[in-house]
Amino acid sequence: MKKRIAIFASGSGSNAQKIMEHFKRSNDAEVALILTNNPDAYVLQRADNFEVPSHIFDRKEFYETDKIVQLLKNLNIDLVVLAGFLWLVPQPLLKAFPNKIINIHPSLLPKYGGKGMYGEKVHQAVLADGEQESGITIHFVNEAFDEGEIIHQSKFKIEKGDDLEMIKFKVQQLEHQHFPKVIEALLKKMKSL
Ligand code: GRF
Repeated sequence: MKKRIAIFASGSGSNAQKIMEHFKRSNDAEVALILTNNPDAYVLQRADNFEVPSHIFDRKEFYETDKIVQLLKNLNIDLVVLAGFLWLVPQPLLKAFPNKIINIHPSLLPKYGGKGMYGEKVHQAVLADGEQESGITIHFVNEAFDEGEIIHQSKFKIEKGDDLEMIKFKVQQLEHQHFPKVIEALLKKMKSL
C-alpha cells in the first residue's frame, strides 16, 4: 500500500506543488489531501491541477473540534507535512500523529525561528544581522513554533550584494530541491519500523 501524505499550506504552495510533482508517479507514496485555513490560497488551485482533494477549515474547526483529526484518520494519512502553514498545531493533532508531522522553515534553526518569524521577516532579520550564510530546516513539529527535532538542514553562502529577493530565491531553490526527497526518505524509514 502506498504511504499517504497530507499537506497543510496557507499560501502559494510552491512546496506543495513540488511534493505533488515528486510523488505523482511514485509507487511508494502519494499526496492524498491538501488542507488550508485560507480559502484564497493559491495552493487550492495547485491541488486541483493535480487532482488532489482539498479541505478548507477555519480557526474554530481546527482548534475546537476533532474534525481534522478524524478526516486525516479516515483517509489513513501516514505523514502530515506543513509547507507554509502558519498556525500552531493543537495537542490532539500532535497526539494523533506522534513523530508524523513535519515542517519546513526558511532559516537555519534554531536561528530565526519562533512566533512571528515567517516569510520575508526571516530573511530581513538574517540580512540585518549580516549573516554569512542561511538555509532551510526540515523538522518534526511539537507544541512550540520551530522547536521540534531537526531532520534535515541545507545551507548556502550569502554573497556580498545579496538582497532580500536573492536570499528568498536561494532559500526557495533549496526547499524545492530537498523537501520532497527528505519526505521520501522519511517515509522509507517509517516503512521499515
Ligand atoms: C516556505 O518558505 C517555507 O519555508 C515557509 O513558508 C514558505 C512557503 O512557501 N514555512 P510556499 O507556499 O510553499 O511557496
